[in-house]
Amino acid sequence: MRNSKIFLFICTTLFLAVFLTACGNSESTSGSSESTDDSAETEQSSEDAATDASQEGEGEVNIYTARHYEVDDKVYERFTDETGIKVNVVKGDAPELIERIKREGESSPADLFITVDGGVLAHAKQEDILQPIQSDAIEENVPELYRDEDNNWVGMSTRARVIVYAKDRVSPEELSTYEDLASEQWEDKLLIRSSTSLYNQSLLASLIELNGEEEVEAWAEGIVNNFARNPDGGDRDQAKAIAAGTGDVGIMNTYYVGLMANSENQEEVDVADQLGVFFPNQDTTGTHINISGIGLTKHSPNTENAIQLIEYITSADIQEFITSQNYEYPVNPDAEWPELLQSWGEFKPQEISWDALLEHNQKAIEISNKVGWQ
Ligand code: FE2
Repeated sequence: MRNSKIFLFICTTLFLAVFLTACGNSESTSGSSESTDDSAETEQSSEDAATDASQEGEGEVNIYTARHYEVDDKVYERFTDETGIKVNVVKGDAPELIERIKREGESSPADLFITVDGGVLAHAKQEDILQPIQSDAIEENVPELYRDEDNNWVGMSTRARVIVYAKDRVSPEELSTYEDLASEQWEDKLLIRSSTSLYNQSLLASLIELNGEEEVEAWAEGIVNNFARNPDGGDRDQAKAIAAGTGDVGIMNTYYVGLMANSENQEEVDVADQLGVFFPNQDTTGTHINISGIGLTKHSPNTENAIQLIEYITSADIQEFITSQNYEYPVNPDAEWPELLQSWGEFKPQEISWDALLEHNQKAIEISNKVGWQ
């Protein structure tokens, strides 16, 4: 208690940037930051950071980001240490940040727009707030699959949305596809979060692209039928419910398993221990992946610094650093995976256009509402 008070005092007396980093670090050790950690939609925007970002000039780069991971702040800090270029960060939810960049127009201080979800990145491009990124280094760092076709944005990391299962009650031989999770075998045994999560909307959108609307509606009905309980909490909460025996199988992003397995919170480590990770649809359409990406804004005032930062983030070293901290998959094929990711093995991902996630988003929401997926 006393220690935490002293820590709080030190935190509050430090300069803002240091404050955010230091306290951010302590938050991760609590290991229970799902509500902020998992809702790219609800990150508060910091007025102080906004003021920072409005100070244009040499030696700076201004980021508007909807990502909510501590590792990002560490990367920016390392970049500043190595280059002397100051990184100013404004956090917010993606639609808000897109609107803000549009509203600010030519006078926007934003150089980079960073977010999670290929559909949102496609939306940012459609809203005409981005411009092509011209850099041979970036094109070398990031394969085409993980870049916008006009290089309006490039990937920063990818994530796989997989099936997790209770190792003591389910054998991986019983598992196969997302589609199969709607079968009677899993009645009252399935855990998955709300359909209001973009993670699930994009999973549905990808299946609409691959299987068509009708099939997906029937599938979603089966999924709801198989719910072990009404959707509650984020991805980590589904893992916890499986460990608690509420259900046997679930759908979640792999990096949460990684974060839990490496958490300072023993309870999370124990939960992760009980889970198996299964990559579905390996003999069919591949496992659903999504992408985090970086767009160069149309009126970026610090273009050179912005491109230098993207080159830095997509370099093999920093890609390795990000995956070692956050357990997302690197977009640079030269980056080595952490042991845990290696232990899960290589997998075949879905290969659909990122635009499809945007194109079918409304339909995904409609279907979820229709079948009563809360
Ligand atoms: Fe997340």
